[in-house]
Amino acid sequence: MTDSVTSRAHRSATGPLTIAVTGSSGKLGRAAVADLREAGHEVIGFDLHGTAGAGFTQVKLDDYGQTLDALLGVTARHAGIDALVHLAAIPVNGLVPDAATFHNNMAVSFNVLFGAHRAGIHRIVTASSITAAGFPYDVAPPALPVDESHTVANNTYGLGKVLEEAMLGQLVDWSEACSITALRFTNVVGADEYGTFERAAETTYRRDLIGSWVDARDGALAIRLALEAARPGFTVYNVAAPESGSSIPSRELAALWFPGTPVADDLGEFESLFSTRAIQRDLGFAARHDWR
Ligand SMILES: NC(=O)c1ccc[n+]([C@@H]2O[C@H](COP(=O)([O-])OP(=O)(O)OC[C@H]3O[C@@H](n4cnc5c(N)ncnc54)[C@H](O)[C@@H]3O)[C@@H](O)[C@H]2O)c1
Repeated sequence: MTDSVTSRAHRSATGPLTIAVTGSSGKLGRAAVADLREAGHEVIGFDLHGTAGAGFTQVKLDDYGQTLDALLGVTARHAGIDALVHLAAIPVNGLVPDAATFHNNMAVSFNVLFGAHRAGIHRIVTASSITAAGFPYDVAPPALPVDESHTVANNTYGLGKVLEEAMLGQLVDWSEACSITALRFTNVVGADEYGTFERAAETTYRRDLIGSWVDARDGALAIRLALEAARPGFTVYNVAAPESGSSIPSRELAALWFPGTPVADDLGEFESLFSTRAIQRDLGFAARHDWR
């Protein structure tokens, strides 16, 4: 590691950072790039697809050579990165064969995170998923609301997220003062997708997500808060709107969907059954958007 790389990696969070965002052309990536730029940070997007120009470089992230080179520097784009937001992935099963989802996502995450380690980038936020926490909940969770201690995968996409979390929990200790935060996003809802809440009174609506949702712009806020508050070590947080996507009170949904499962005594009337208590407590996360 060169001195210049070391000094960039340890740059204070108080000033603007140069941040690489993988998956920058995706639903969450677009919101994250906009939010980080709005907050004054310099952002360079890395994605397979995107519009050529300042702030974006096309990178095939399942190719380690391209990934490492892009993290170290890109002529006319950046000369070193302070922080990394890793969002690139195939975001659900079904788009390509199941094994292809696993292969792409595991290769991309290894390349990006190991590349970051090689490049001396120590401030990292990555996207995990509710699919690492029991989605689609055909089996009842041990308790409600579901917190970060519950780790279960039921498909190859979720398996990738569980394995990525395990990998990150090890990689974080390979560099002094490295901070990696994995955010377990629930279903991300774009600003143009609120029509879905017309079904909010149906008992089957969002059943596989235990009623949860998050606005893409609030997902972006969670990313920025995690990045700016980065502390050494590996941390996992659930990310959802603190209140559910259902108009049925959460205790009623819990009794209907998971009879007999213990429910927290202090569960709020519409509190998300995918718990956001930890990210609210530690990072001061508060959603700015609600469908109600
Ligand atoms: N959308 C959701 O509801 C949701 C929920 C939970 C977790 N997540 C996670 O959040 C992250 C972002 O999801 P999203 O909804 O924005 O997905 P998206 O599909 O809109 O964006 C993902 C981006 O990653 C890029 N990508 C994929 N493979 C790549 C490769 N090999 N090389 C370069 N780029 C590649 C794609 O081109 C795409 O632009 C993903 O890690 C996803 O698993 C999403």
